[in-house]
Amino acid sequence: MSNYHIKNLEEYFQVYRKSIRNPEGFWEEVAEEHFMWHKKWDRVLDWDFTKPEVKWFEGAKLNITENCIDRHLRIRGDKTAILFEPNDPKEEAQHISYAQLSERVNKFANVLKAQGVKKGDRVCIYLPMIPELAVSVLACARIGAIHSVVFAGFSSTALATRINDCDCKMVITSDGSYRGAKTIDLKGIVDEALEQCEGVETVLIAKRIHSDIEMKSGRDQWLEPLLDEASADCEPEIMDAEDPLFILYTSGSTGKPKGMVHTTAGYMVYTAYTFKNVFQYREEDVYWCTADIGWITGHSYIVYGPLANGATTVMFEGVPSYPDFGRFWEIVEKHKINQFYTAPTAIRALAKQGTELIENHDLSSLKVLGSVGEPINEEAWHWYNDNIGHKNSPIVDTWWQTETGGIMITPIPYVTPTKPTYATLPFPGIQPALMDENGKEIKGNQADGRLCIKFPWPSMARTIWGNHQRYKDTYFSAFENMYFTGDGALRDEVGYYRITGRVDDVIIVSGHNLGTAPIEDAVNEHPAVAESAIVGFPHDVKGNALYGYVILKNFGETRNQDNLRKEINQMITEQIGPIAKLDKIQFTQGLPKTRSGKIMRRILRKIASKDTSNLGDTSTLLNPEVVQDIIDNAL
Ligand code: PRX
Repeated sequence: MSNYHIKNLEEYFQVYRKSIRNPEGFWEEVAEEHFMWHKKWDRVLDWDFTKPEVKWFEGAKLNITENCIDRHLRIRGDKTAILFEPNDPKEEAQHISYAQLSERVNKFANVLKAQGVKKGDRVCIYLPMIPELAVSVLACARIGAIHSVVFAGFSSTALATRINDCDCKMVITSDGSYRGAKTIDLKGIVDEALEQCEGVETVLIAKRIHSDIEMKSGRDQWLEPLLDEASADCEPEIMDAEDPLFILYTSGSTGKPKGMVHTTAGYMVYTAYTFKNVFQYREEDVYWCTADIGWITGHSYIVYGPLANGATTVMFEGVPSYPDFGRFWEIVEKHKINQFYTAPTAIRALAKQGTELIENHDLSSLKVLGSVGEPINEEAWHWYNDNIGHKNSPIVDTWWQTETGGIMITPIPYVTPTKPTYATLPFPGIQPALMDENGKEIKGNQADGRLCIKFPWPSMARTIWGNHQRYKDTYFSAFENMYFTGDGALRDEVGYYRITGRVDDVIIVSGHNLGTAPIEDAVNEHPAVAESAIVGFPHDVKGNALYGYVILKNFGETRNQDNLRKEINQMITEQIGPIAKLDKIQFTQGLPKTRSGKIMRRILRKIASKDTSNLGDTSTLLNPEVVQDIIDNAL
C-alpha cells in the first residue's frame, strides 16, 4: 500500500511533488499496485491539448467490473457492497453483499445480451435510487455497453433529447418511484419521451411501486422474469483502456446538453485512488454519499470509486425531509456511517431546521464529512463542522466537475488543515493554474483568476459525444494548452484554493448545473413570450436561484400575471424538470442589449441581486432607458 493512502502533510507534499515531476511514473505505480488487468499498458500517457487528445494506459486490457466486484469475492464476498436504505424508514434496509452483487450484475448482463445489447451500444438508464440502478450500470460495464444515466427528475423532453443524442437502443426504467410522500410515474415519462425516440427497441422495467402501468407490446418487458431465467455467470467483455465506459450529460452555457464521454482505465484508476485518500476509507467503514447516481458524484463516488476499493457504499432512495428533517441523522446512526458526503444546499436546508432533530441521534461514528457541488459558504461550513462533525470530523470540501470525472482540489482528511470555504490543495497529479483576462498565467500566491488545469489527469472526459469540436471549443480554446474549467478561483497566501463560482452562463442551483440557454428556450416556447433572459441570484438554501426577465409579445397581456408565471414554470418543468423552475419572473418591456444585440447579463444579474449601486457605464447600450425601468419594477 505504499503511496496509496496518504498519511500526513509531509507525505502529501512528497507525493504531490513526485506526481508533478513524473506524472507517468506516478500513475503507473498506482495502476500497477491496485488493479486487475488482463494486459498492462504499452504506454502510460499520450496527450495533445491542441487537438485535444488524451490517452491513458493505452494498450491495457481490462474490465472495470472485475475490479469492482470479482476480485473482492475471495476476500470479502460476504461483506456488504451496497447498503440500500429505502425511501420509507419502515421498509427494511437491504444489505447486498459482494457475492450477491456479483450474481445480480452477471444476471442483468446476461439479460442485456439476450436482448441484443452489444459492446459499444448505448443504453439509457432512467431509474430512481434503487439497487437496480447500480446493478444496471455495472451490467452495462460488464458487457462493454456504454451507459447513459439520466437523472430521474428530468422531464420527458429532456430525457428524449439525451436518448436521441447518443442513439440509445434500450431504456431501463421502473414502474415508478418514491420521493418522500409522493410517487412519480416514471414509466409514463418514458412513454412520453419515446414518442420522440425512434431508435429505442427495448424498454426494461423494474418493479418498485407496483403500479398498474401500460406495457407496449414488442417493446416493454418486465425485468424480473428475465432476471429469473438468466444465468449468474457472464464472462466480462475485455475492454481497451480507452474504450468508452459511459456518457453523462451536463449543461453548457449554450446549446443542447453535452454528453461527456468517460473512458475505462483512467477513470477507474483515478476514482479509486481519490476515493481511498479523500475519504480515508478503511476496510470496516460504512460510507454514504447522498447524491443521486444520475449525477457524476454518484457515478464516481457511490458506484465505481467505492466498489473498486471493496467498500460498503450506501444508496439512499429518499429525500432529507421525509418523514422529517432528521432523516439523514437517523440513517447515520442506524448504519453507523463513517464517511458522509453531501452538498452545501442540503446542509443549508438542514441547518434551517435547527439542531433538535440532530440531538437525539448518535453521530459519533462519523470520521469524515464531505461537501461537493457548489461553493460552501462560511456559515454552512461552521454549522456542519459544529453540529454534525462536533469539530472532530474534518470537512473535505471537494471541488470537481462532471468533466473531470473525479475530485481535483480537496483537503485530505486528518492530513490537510482545513479552512472554511477553501477546497485547499490540488490532489496528487492535478496541476491547477490561475489565468488572467489576457490569457497569462498568474504565478505566485494571493492570486485571483480563471481556473485551468495544465496537465492531463486519468479521469478527464475525452470528448463530447458526437461533437469533438464543441469539446475543443468549450474547454481548450479559452487558454492555450490548458483545460478551462469555467470556474473562477483565488489562491491564498499559502497556496490554498477557493472556488468563487462560474464565470460563464452556467448557474448552479441546489448543486445542479443549469445552463441559461435551455431554460430561456423553454420559456420562449410559451405562446405569450417574445424573449427572455435568465440569471442567477443568491439564495440562502439553494446557493443560487433563478430570476427570469420576460418580454411578452403583448405587454398589455390581460391574463393574470401570476397565472402566466405558473404557466411559464410549467413549461420549464415539462421541457427540463422542476429543478430549473424560476423563483422570480419579472415582466419587462425590454432587455438591456449591446449594440451588437447581446443581452447584458451582468446588469441583469446585479438587478436580480439587488445590487444596483454600481451598474457600470450603461450609456453605450443600445437601449439604456430600459435599465431604470427594470430597476423600478424589480421583484
Ligand atoms: O462551479 C463548480 C461547482 O460545480 C461545477 C461542476 O458541476 P457538475 O459538473 O454538476 O459537478 C458537480 C459535482 C462534482 C463546478 O464547475 N462545484 C463543484 N464542487 C464545488 C464547486 N464549487 C465550489 N466548491 C466545490 N467544492
